Amino acid sequence: MDNIVEVRDLCVTFKTSEGSVYAVSNVNLDLAEGKTLALLGESGSGKSVTMKSLMRLHPPHKTQITGSIQVAGRDVLALGNRELSDMRGKDIAMVFQEPMLAFDPVFKVGDQIAEVVMRHEGCSYEAGRDRALEMMECVHIPSPRKRLDAYPHEMSGGMRQRAMIALALACRPTVLLADEPTTALDATVQIQVLLLLRELQREFGMSMIFVTHDVGVAIEVADEIAVMYGGRIVEQGPVDEVMTDPWHPYTQGLLGATVYPNMDPATRLVSIPGAPPQLYRQITECAFAPRCPHATDECHDPLPPPTQTDQRMARCIRLPEVAGALPRASV
Ligand SMILES: Nc1ncnc2c1ncn2[C@@H]1O[C@H](COP(=O)(O)OP(=O)(O)O)[C@@H](O)[C@H]1O
Ligand SMILES: [Mg+2]
Repeated sequence: MDNIVEVRDLCVTFKTSEGSVYAVSNVNLDLAEGKTLALLGESGSGKSVTMKSLMRLHPPHKTQITGSIQVAGRDVLALGNRELSDMRGKDIAMVFQEPMLAFDPVFKVGDQIAEVVMRHEGCSYEAGRDRALEMMECVHIPSPRKRLDAYPHEMSGGMRQRAMIALALACRPTVLLADEPTTALDATVQIQVLLLLRELQREFGMSMIFVTHDVGVAIEVADEIAVMYGGRIVEQGPVDEVMTDPWHPYTQGLLGATVYPNMDPATRLVSIPGAPPQLYRQITECAFAPRCPHATDECHDPLPPPTQTDQRMARCIRLPEVAGALPRASV
């Protein structure tokens, strides 16, 4: 099967007044056409930085990006400004955690959606507005015709999230990046938005990368999963395999710390002790070692290449010994 997104050896470093921040290191990602990849990890693990790299949304002067990114046959890191704006919205679009980032507060929501369609498809304002209406119906915004003329602040959080999905999907993007699109919403609205994304994905045949820190959400939406820690992918594979037989102690820790579908009801949750690493130096050893229940002295040495099979990858030198070791305390 062809990959619609291929990321190889992606490294993203930010130059700040306090020094370099090594936000993303040596990331490889593959997204097959029509599939959903979940990018799972705690806050600060590099998920959003990776997604923004796919759209080239980082400030160019403060950011060093190396490696390669292919999206729908385009070499993203080599594109000029004109080709970039052709790509954004059409080949790849993004739904952000905070919808106010996507909308300009001073323009009507319907006009902002119409504007994107006009830019990409060269159509008239009327045709753009028609598409905006169609998209707002598609995402089940009530009284869509009236809401076309609403300003972003006149909508509730859940409605704005839907409007942002309408905006992102207005030009039928080949790839949708959904960056924690449900985190700011309450539980019932979260489920509605997840179901909606799944429905739209089927309808438009989209491929999707879904960013989340929630194991249950990842299991719900994904075909494949990539687990990020300290700016690296520590484990990757088909979601059902990784979630039933996690290899990496960090994945095991995440599973042990969360409620997810079909879990053993006798399980007591155990949180992962400690905090994620600072990224002010390039971490070449296992970044999880300081929090890992299985760590030995060698875990603080530079990491060798990951353990890899046809379908799965994990970056831990204690494999295969520690695979499947769920940190669970049964009651
Ligand atoms: N523009 C930036 N300049 C400096 N550091 C940044 C910038 N953007 C993100 N970072 C840092 O990169 C790391 C990863 O951030 P991010 O990808 O946003 O994490 P998350 O997994 O929560 O989405 C964090 O330590 C964050 O502080
Ligand atoms: Mg983020």
